[in-house]
Amino acid sequence: MTLRDFTPKEIGYLIDLAARLKSDKAAGVFARNLANKNIALIFEKPSTRTRCAFVVAAIDEGAHPEYLGKNDIQLGKKESVADTARVLGRMFDGIQFRGFSHETVEQLAAHAGVPVWNGLTDQYHPTQILADFLTVKENFGALKGIKFVYTGDGRNNMANSLMIGAAKMGMDFRIVSPASLYPDQEILDTCREYAEASGASISLTHDVAEGVAGAHVIYTDVWASMGEEDKIPERIALLKPYQVNADMLAKTGNPDCIFLHCLPAFHDDNTEMGRKFPDIKEVSDEVFEGPASRVFDQAENRMHTIKAVMVATLA
Ligand code: CP
Ligand code: NVA
Repeated sequence: MTLRDFTPKEIGYLIDLAARLKSDKAAGVFARNLANKNIALIFEKPSTRTRCAFVVAAIDEGAHPEYLGKNDIQLGKKESVADTARVLGRMFDGIQFRGFSHETVEQLAAHAGVPVWNGLTDQYHPTQILADFLTVKENFGALKGIKFVYTGDGRNNMANSLMIGAAKMGMDFRIVSPASLYPDQEILDTCREYAEASGASISLTHDVAEGVAGAHVIYTDVWASMGEEDKIPERIALLKPYQVNADMLAKTGNPDCIFLHCLPAFHDDNTEMGRKFPDIKEVSDEVFEGPASRVFDQAENRMHTIKAVMVATLA
């Protein structure tokens, strides 16, 4: 459901397993760990990476993935989540859910009797973090002690999940955002407990120069998440100073700092793309396309890490 469910050792294991499955695939080695398994993929919200990662990973491992879009099934409308979970659990070996309420994925997990994987809810996006951390490890060789800055909407699913992961893995994690978008106190308190055990540090600041100093990683996400489209104008006004651009990268003082983004990203020409808000741009094109950017390695790593999650929990 979230990375709270896993110990630091288990998270480290999933990342290392993903790295191994990645090199196996590059070498043409397919162990087919999930032969004869069937995987249900429920999507209330759209997706490119998560959906494709589950589909390709399942097929690489010999499983059959079945996409169930929001108009294909009766989830929570004509049929309760609990009933749907019990039916799917009789037919499928694992279920991925992407949607709005985090309670829905918890209910699915409570009733399905098979592994349920959270492919993003309004509050959390745990599988993304595994891909992000694999990418960090590929670049820096370790996670512990990494100065990891998340800037932008400090209270969305990405901020919450990165903070949990970073706290568990001993990172120096900083949220750089306006105070009105700081994370919930409950998640912050939990992460500070994890940090005590792991040696991580968790800090919040609205000051860009202070927050990004010495960073190894600058990470951002869209300023308004799926389902929050009505908030776009107010977010543009609040978050413009937190755009990731060459000036922000220079402020890190670290020439080896990398840029990460879960994608999709607003970085290109909004007018050309026919978008309604020309000013929404959480990262400049210069950084997105520049030498610090690792966003497409990161996107590829969604597939290897999701494969690791399915193999570890199902094979
Ligand atoms: N990063 C991510 O979850 O992308 P999708 O919304 O395309 O799945
Ligand atoms: N915070 C974003 C993440 C997309 C992968 C959203 O929920 O829309």
